[in-house]
Amino acid sequence: MEQQEVTAFAGLLRLLRTEAGLTQEELAEAAGLSPRSVSDLERGINRTARKDTAVLLSNALGLTEPVRPTFVAAARGLTPAADVLAAMRGARTRAWNVPARNPGFTGREELLADVRRRLQSADQAVVQALHGMGGIGKTQLATEYAHRFADSYDLAWWINAEQVGLIGDQVAALGLALGCVQAGDAAEAIRTAVLAELRDRGRWLLIFDNAESPADVAPWLPGGGSGGHVLITSRQRGWDEVAVAVEMDVLARPESVAILQSRVAMLTEDDAGRLAAELGDLPLAIAQAADFMADTGVAPDEFLMLLRTRALQLLSEGSAGSYPGSLAAATGLIADRLESLDPAAAELASVCAFLAPEPIPETLFTDAASFLPGELAARASDPLAWRRTIARLTRQSLARVDHRGLQMHRLTQAILRERLAPARATATRGCAEAILAAGNPGDPPNPVTWPRWAQLTPHVLAADLAGTNNPDLRELVRYTCWYLIERGDNRTALDLVKDLPEQWRGRLGEHHEHTLTAAHYLGWVLLQMGRYGESRDLNQATFTRRRRVLGEDHPDTLYSAHNLAITLRKLGDVEAARDLDQDTVDRQRRVMGDDHHSTLRAAAMLAADLRELGDLQAARDLEQDILDRRRRALGPDHPDTLTSATGLAADLRQLGDLEAARDLDQDALERRRRVLGEDHPDTLASASNLAADLRELGEAPKLGRQRRYCAELGPIQAIDANRPLS
Ligand SMILES: Nc1ncnc2c1ncn2[C@@H]1O[C@H](COP(=O)(O)OP(=O)(O)O)[C@@H](O)[C@H]1O
Ligand SMILES: [Mg+2]
Repeated sequence: MEQQEVTAFAGLLRLLRTEAGLTQEELAEAAGLSPRSVSDLERGINRTARKDTAVLLSNALGLTEPVRPTFVAAARGLTPAADVLAAMRGARTRAWNVPARNPGFTGREELLADVRRRLQSADQAVVQALHGMGGIGKTQLATEYAHRFADSYDLAWWINAEQVGLIGDQVAALGLALGCVQAGDAAEAIRTAVLAELRDRGRWLLIFDNAESPADVAPWLPGGGSGGHVLITSRQRGWDEVAVAVEMDVLARPESVAILQSRVAMLTEDDAGRLAAELGDLPLAIAQAADFMADTGVAPDEFLMLLRTRALQLLSEGSAGSYPGSLAAATGLIADRLESLDPAAAELASVCAFLAPEPIPETLFTDAASFLPGELAARASDPLAWRRTIARLTRQSLARVDHRGLQMHRLTQAILRERLAPARATATRGCAEAILAAGNPGDPPNPVTWPRWAQLTPHVLAADLAGTNNPDLRELVRYTCWYLIERGDNRTALDLVKDLPEQWRGRLGEHHEHTLTAAHYLGWVLLQMGRYGESRDLNQATFTRRRRVLGEDHPDTLYSAHNLAITLRKLGDVEAARDLDQDTVDRQRRVMGDDHHSTLRAAAMLAADLRELGDLQAARDLEQDILDRRRRALGPDHPDTLTSATGLAADLRQLGDLEAARDLDQDALERRRRVLGEDHPDTLASASNLAADLRELGEAPKLGRQRRYCAELGPIQAIDANRPLS
């Protein structure tokens, strides 16, 4: 057929009708149109057709993708009729071997759009490498991309690139489909011919699925400016030289939930959310879990329990859809390979498996090299060798690395942990605990340490605290709890310690120092949360035990006395609190000295008792003394210094020196905003106190964000002079 014959739609329609072997009447009948309308179009009386007419005609002519939309556009006068013929030529020789589309494909809209945009926009981006751990959805994304944008490609060829030796055969098959090579041609001749044909044609899509390295794929790339696009999927990193590398992330939570709910009958959104969280939103695991639950009818809670105790077995169960093998098998294979290639890197992977699935700061390893086993210890103390080791680990996508540290998916962790023989697992867990304990940033009241605490805390929470044999880790728990309280995160602090007194009592004994410490901290958290009755009982019991075990003057005994006194006062027994505090202050001055921070905290407590009992002068004098000492020792911004300032302001306010109170509260508020942040309870208390000063002075408060709280709470009389002791 000659192109000039059909420059108008009339000619095109006549041509297609004749090729289909239909008369005008037959076509009209097949399309459900009147013979007249077909005839008018063929004679050019009507130059264009309505869209619904065009669709009916295309169906009757048996046109399929991608010709059909072009035909409809041409019928409506939106596209030259010649384009339809070009599309038909393409379709006739259409080479297309992309795997079937997954009807349950979910989400990934943004990523698909990004990939599309980059492929279309720039020359350098015509090759893109999707990389990430096994099961994260790389193959699915490439498949979906090919189907979704099929209209803009004349050919799409899928190449399984995992085994490099088999790429050539698959390219030869493409060459045969395109008619540019003959069976039996030499391999190099085929390569050259197919690449030349592709460069000639344009509008093609090549997908190299599961490639191992750039070197494997590079010989098969037609090169920039050749009018086609390449997608590579790989577990490996390091594609920058041949492609734009796109790291794939796990699914967004609503996407995981949608997949689970679509496959498992009667699954509530709540349960789906909990499952998705436990599966770390990994698509393969989500799909495997959905299959397993749909097949077995197991309840969500039971599945979660199985996952926590027998992840390896569960994740070895049947593969999801078309996925080759299970997550456990894929991860196991990589772990085996790493083990034989580089045992030290494999060791590092195992250690990571016993930490949280959150970024692990690299300093945790490099600052604690001596706690790592043999070869890995040597690597951790040599920056270059260390980088190489990290690269080995991340290359295979067993873990990811960025400026925050190394991060391993929770299921990878579960699988690696369960693969280890019991003795090796115990040793590796011990190693993880040791480096964690060695990473203790110390000094929780000091905000300088907080960024490091923030990095460490998830790993402390993930550790087996009930069962650990490492006393330094137990000590770290104490500090972490203290840090959380300093940050005002009482909820997490409670989660951290609520079961430990009981668990450690069973394991270490009732009088073990760590059992008592855990009880002390639990008492403190309860106090912070306003659960005074429970706190008092616990504090009383801990105080009594510590007195007996450690002696009356031991610092820990005195801390318990201090916290007990706070709860007594909170519960209204102020005189008992004052007597206990007076005794504590006397002992602490004797044992630790006048300027020791614990002495000063206890003294602040005593001042609060005196204040509450109406002995305001004594309270003010004591508080002034404490403030002076703290400013000297800790500086003006330290939370303890600001606590004193707040206490002194309360005394001054009650003694009628409102201006002095206002100045102190104003200064404390500014410093707390800066140091603790706008929403910290102490900042809010300062704002509230200042509002009270200003109200009494007849000035209008200008408090901004804190106003809401002040309106709700009214003045808070030095709530934080009741600061417990660690
Ligand atoms: N977007 C998605 N929607 C639904 N299921 C998905 C999606 N992505 C992945 N999956 C599921 O996860 C499995 C593994 O995905 P796949 O793309 O094969 O992973 P890989 O990253 O290893 O290539 C698939 O077989 C499918 O069941
Ligand atoms: Mg894949």
